[in-house]
Amino acid sequence: MGLTDPVEAAFAAVPRADFLPRAQRSHASYDGPLAIGHGQTCSQPSTVEAMLRLLDVHAGHRVLDVGSGSGWTTALLAHLVGPTGRVEGVEVVPELAHTAAVRLARTGMTWATVHGAVPHVLGLPDLAPYDRVLVSADGGRMPADLVDQLAVPGRLVAPVAGRMLVVDRTEEDLVTQAHGHYRFVPLV
Ligand SMILES: C[S@@+](CC[C@H](N)C(=O)[O-])C[C@H]1O[C@@H](n2cnc3c(N)ncnc32)[C@H](O)[C@@H]1O
Repeated sequence: MGLTDPVEAAFAAVPRADFLPRAQRSHASYDGPLAIGHGQTCSQPSTVEAMLRLLDVHAGHRVLDVGSGSGWTTALLAHLVGPTGRVEGVEVVPELAHTAAVRLARTGMTWATVHGAVPHVLGLPDLAPYDRVLVSADGGRMPADLVDQLAVPGRLVAPVAGRMLVVDRTEEDLVTQAHGHYRFVPLV
């Protein structure tokens, strides 16, 4: 019988080990961040799970993954949206973007892509709008440029100054809620 919880099913279908450098693969089940090179990390699984639950991704959604890093979250999101959706990952370190793209391609989920970040551009505004935006780095303040890339209605989940923020964009306004404290690498 298949798993009925979509987030659990995504974790089961997309092993973290497949997105880690060889030397880190035996630590894949460790519930902490793991180094992926260039001073960056593959995020802690329980944090990724909490963020994906807050993001509330549905099949068919268009999703932006800011800070693809290892490519693992991009692949988890791809599993959640399924072939009728789209996931655009964006990563500022070119070498990580390349490796993530190679690992993502191995999953066969052709509806997800990892892009190198355009200098001085946050997110991928040319491909907006997105039903969901996941941010895996902390810029210290609300990333207004990413909120602008949300569809209406749309939801963004981002660590901001150590708090996990959920921002809902509606026709009328923006509603922001904070959910717990987390530590992330900086959004550059
Ligand atoms: C916590 S790490 C990786 C998280 C990733 N989701 C994973 O689990 O592998 C966050 C990533 O955000 C990237 N990053 C930081 N600022 C960025 C920006 N402005 N645009 C895109 N990526 C950025 C870093 O290079 C880093 O790889």
